[in-house]
Amino acid sequence: MVDLSVDYLGMTLRSPLMASASPMTSNVESLMRLEDAGCAAVVLPSLFEEEIEHYSREVDRILSTGADIHGEAHSYFPDVYDYDTGPDRYLRLVEAAKGALSIPVIANMNGMTTGWWTEFAVRLEDAGADAVELNEYVVAADPTINGFEVEERYLDLVREIDATISIPFAVKIGPFFSSFANMAQQLVDAGADGLVLFNRFFQPDIDLDTLSVEPHLVLSDSEELRLPLRWIALLRRNIDASLAATSGVHTPDDVLKALLAGADVTMMASALLKRGPGHIRFLEVEIVRWMEAHEYPSVRLLQGSMCADAAADASAYERANYLQTLRSYSSDSI
Ligand SMILES: Cc1cc2nc3c(=O)[nH]c(=O)nc-3n(C[C@H](O)[C@H](O)[C@H](O)COP(=O)(O)O)c2cc1C
Repeated sequence: MVDLSVDYLGMTLRSPLMASASPMTSNVESLMRLEDAGCAAVVLPSLFEEEIEHYSREVDRILSTGADIHGEAHSYFPDVYDYDTGPDRYLRLVEAAKGALSIPVIANMNGMTTGWWTEFAVRLEDAGADAVELNEYVVAADPTINGFEVEERYLDLVREIDATISIPFAVKIGPFFSSFANMAQQLVDAGADGLVLFNRFFQPDIDLDTLSVEPHLVLSDSEELRLPLRWIALLRRNIDASLAATSGVHTPDDVLKALLAGADVTMMASALLKRGPGHIRFLEVEIVRWMEAHEYPSVRLLQGSMCADAAADASAYERANYLQTLRSYSSDSI
């Protein structure tokens, strides 16, 4: 009997198979289908900083209108958090998910500035979220802001969330830092309990008919796992925090590779959107089959056994791999 259980953000999960934030985790029905299929934990779609800001502006507008009418007017207005707005709906989703599921529910906050909006994390905690995933994403397009300042923005936000909530939280980020290993360490030092690697950026495209810049969403494939795979392998031994692999997890092989590299859990969005929640069941059966064939009694035993420090040739994850890859392209293939 293979033991699939893993630890993530201080929680013990039944397996390393998780659903990451996507429309698949946006309603209780599909969340229940994910749990039925064996999903170990779910990350809800993001609540965006902009949504909270918009909501707050609306409430301010309504309250200031009321204040002009009567001195006591404020008492007639509902508490700022009682409106049926984006943030309020989100809290209800957290509560409903917690009521319907027995697996951990992770709320996801998406933003990049420090300030009052992060206080909302406390309300997610009160609503029953088992953990928070903070998605930090900025396009550093301002040439007057240097890398250090950009990194400080990331870190300030992490420090703020760390000071605000008592449940564990992971930070979901992209790979575009000049020293990613150092940035990962700094995020953990700033209070992150885990890192979710990597945010997948949707690059805009230009529509030649309308001459407009259009959003362009393409689901991932397994090729995209290589980037998180390399970085999880490089970070595993040095980073004392949970590591989740996201981007390109589709097949049983993808899951096994991520675990061997050192991931604590694997998260999926595209694979579940393409194949439905039942894909989790298929992955579990196939992973167990592989582990039995290779005589691994538990996932914990195989986790990290191919990380950079454990691999026979650690340089395979670094520059040497680059040279080898270029040289491996034989003239026969041209
Ligand atoms: C349609 C769609 C919606 C998504 N929404 C969110 C979101 O709200 N918050 C977030 O952090 N990630 C979101 N993601 C990113 C996924 O959680 C995931 O990190 C990314 O798609 C890479 O994983 P994949 O290769 O399994 O798709 C979304 C992805 C897709 C495809």
